[in-house]
Amino acid sequence: MWQIVFVTRKIPDEGMKILNEDFDVRVHDDNRPVTRADLLEQVKDASAVLSMLNDKIDREVLDAAPDLKVVANMAVGTDNIDIDACTEKGVVVSNTPGVLTEATADLTFALLLSISRRIVEGDAYVREGQFSGWDPLLFLGGELYNKTLGIIGMGRIGQAVARRAKGFGMNIIYHNRSPVKEEISQQLGAMYLSVDEVVQQADYLTLHLPYYPQVHHIINRERLHMMKPTSYLINTARGAHVDEYSLVDCLKKGKIAGAALDVFEKEPQLTPGLEKLNNVVLAPHVGSAGRETRSTMSRMAAESIRDVLQGKTPAYIVNTQVLES
Ligand code: DGY
Repeated sequence: MWQIVFVTRKIPDEGMKILNEDFDVRVHDDNRPVTRADLLEQVKDASAVLSMLNDKIDREVLDAAPDLKVVANMAVGTDNIDIDACTEKGVVVSNTPGVLTEATADLTFALLLSISRRIVEGDAYVREGQFSGWDPLLFLGGELYNKTLGIIGMGRIGQAVARRAKGFGMNIIYHNRSPVKEEISQQLGAMYLSVDEVVQQADYLTLHLPYYPQVHHIINRERLHMMKPTSYLINTARGAHVDEYSLVDCLKKGKIAGAALDVFEKEPQLTPGLEKLNNVVLAPHVGSAGRETRSTMSRMAAESIRDVLQGKTPAYIVNTQVLES
């Protein structure tokens, strides 16, 4: 009998082709995330789940899935998965690292420029027929050259953002669990500082760290108040890094100049008030949404499933301890 793979959302063809060759594939073919009840039902006889970052894979799901051998998350972040529970149950967890680095760094810069140069506001103004000709004071915004970019989380994506910032003539300061190698910091011209120092000195503050409980609200009310009134916050990492209620308050009071968010604390719900603010740009979690990138992500996730179900070790395993048991 063919092994069953449950794919929790329609994915690019590249991944589907791989799975269809060897497995009985079931896809949640809907334009909304799979419901909890449906997920619990579908995993009952599944050997693999190809999950999205908004599918909560916890003990309840694992208990409902006695045949489950692998959860392949089509994302680099795995904060939606109880990794310890998977390891205990001998379920391999894989992700898609590396491939989405450049696309996410591109989106970060797109947001940074959109908020500072007021692209979204300007677009609405022109469409509404309000543009009556060049005006020396029209839509003045923040500039990048010689300004300081503060990066929290200097992994692959943080470094890719820093490379772009260097091209724009920005000064780069960063915080990371540990400083990056000397040769990398020299290439980027990046200075290592504490979180508070980065927050205080940045003209643009951008977050690129994975989510785990210890970094919940790393940008809390106190730190938002430490930011310069002319500074901008950009978040393409995870919503829960930022205390969004305090962010809305700070934006309303002009404590910071603006924010551009691709991720939200209670995603997909917005923190009330956010949608009413002009000094905000909002994107629907599209950091990795380049065509080639999403296609490659689907392939990587599918290959991980194929490898595990065919008794091989996948290339992008998150819980390597599971192999020892
Ligand atoms: C990830 O892979 O974690 C990203 O957030 C996807 O866009």
